[in-house]
Amino acid sequence: MNKMQAIRSDVSDEAVEIPVAAYISPDYARAERTHLWDKVWQVACREEELPNVGDYVTYDILENSAIIVRTGPDEIVAYTNTCRHRGRRLTDGCGHAEKFACKYHAWQWNLKGENIHVSEKQDWSAALTDEKLRLGRVKVGRWAGYVYVNFDPGCEPFEQFLGTLPHWIDPFEMGKMRYKWRRWTIIPCNWKAMLEAFIETYHASIIHPQNRKFSSGRGWNRSEGMHTAIGTAGREGGGGLTASVDPARAKDHRQTVLAATTNLHETVEALTTDTFVAAAKKLFDVLPETASAAEVSNTLMNMAREMDQARGVIWADVSAEHMRDTGFNWHVFPNSLIEPGVSCGLGMRVRPNGYDPDSCILDAHALERFPEGEVPKVENVHLPKEQWPLLWLQDFENLPDVQRGMKCSGDQAVRPNPVVEKAIINLHRGLGKYMGAGAPRPMAQS
Ligand code: FES
Ligand SMILES: [Fe+2]
Repeated sequence: MNKMQAIRSDVSDEAVEIPVAAYISPDYARAERTHLWDKVWQVACREEELPNVGDYVTYDILENSAIIVRTGPDEIVAYTNTCRHRGRRLTDGCGHAEKFACKYHAWQWNLKGENIHVSEKQDWSAALTDEKLRLGRVKVGRWAGYVYVNFDPGCEPFEQFLGTLPHWIDPFEMGKMRYKWRRWTIIPCNWKAMLEAFIETYHASIIHPQNRKFSSGRGWNRSEGMHTAIGTAGREGGGGLTASVDPARAKDHRQTVLAATTNLHETVEALTTDTFVAAAKKLFDVLPETASAAEVSNTLMNMAREMDQARGVIWADVSAEHMRDTGFNWHVFPNSLIEPGVSCGLGMRVRPNGYDPDSCILDAHALERFPEGEVPKVENVHLPKEQWPLLWLQDFENLPDVQRGMKCSGDQAVRPNPVVEKAIINLHRGLGKYMGAGAPRPMAQS
């Protein structure tokens, strides 16, 4: 194995089968509550949703819920979203609070979670101690602009959960990016089926035929602990997927880069920026038709960097080598992914929609670096499936049939590609550890 194979891990993993119970079984979906969601670190929100002390976000996962609140300029904490009296939910959605007040019998807490009011408290004599009255704490981890929570007081340390993610992702400075848009929708498939469509490139040229002319061939996967990097050739020097162009297929590389950039802009509405599109149009002014792929790519990056700099957007300084080895997409166990770029990014989280294994809630967002003072105000918009840009819609239309097909009778199993769908295998290895069931099994022994 040469060095690049070792880094990219595009060598074959063991061929495995994954029983479909993880996708379709109501019992499995119910067991995820206690075995997975009550135990695992999970993305709750981004820090930018909590700019001021007192700003809060309610994070719901199945029937569990946390209040994430900023309590200081650099302090964010989380509480279980349940009243210490008779259990009513305290918050819904997001907002700003000086204190949290229960709407049932008006008990109240300050932002630090300390009780500040109980009506007719003397009726309890001294039994209602501060400890009994304090809001339950939920663990918080902050990284790359995201706020993670964990409902398990004895959970693994957040840094341990992150593993090598900071090494790869931190150079992209995603904490300095802000929402460009936020959208959510409900799709009739299991949350894992949805996520898996976004952590493999194997389907890209089939479900997304518009990408065929830009495809740079095979992708690669590299699992590191619970998480997996997904990459493609052509990422070298690219911003987002801007440079994912197969040099062998292009005649006029300027034309191909412009078409690829415009395609991303229109069909994903993320992973590239207005600046990249404008720079791609300018290529025709500064380069001849005969310019090589490398010349076109480097010129695009240099022009886009300068154009952004002129409007006050300073890119993250990431070497071409680091960009290549990071890949374009990371699956963050269990249910989120991040796609880092030098000036933009994309994030996704998929949650179960109640205990119905056939339904999931997708939250997606585009991120971008904005000039100071020009950060847009972005609402989380519910967008029906039909209104999403083309690439998303193509996946959404495919997934219900994936869910339905897995339900045919017999001992059904899924058989991911051991090279370019390793992220899926790794997800189920991780799930198997949490769930105590459903781990991939070697195909030879099946
Ligand atoms: S349930 Fe909250 S004050 Fe009674
Ligand atoms: Fe897709």
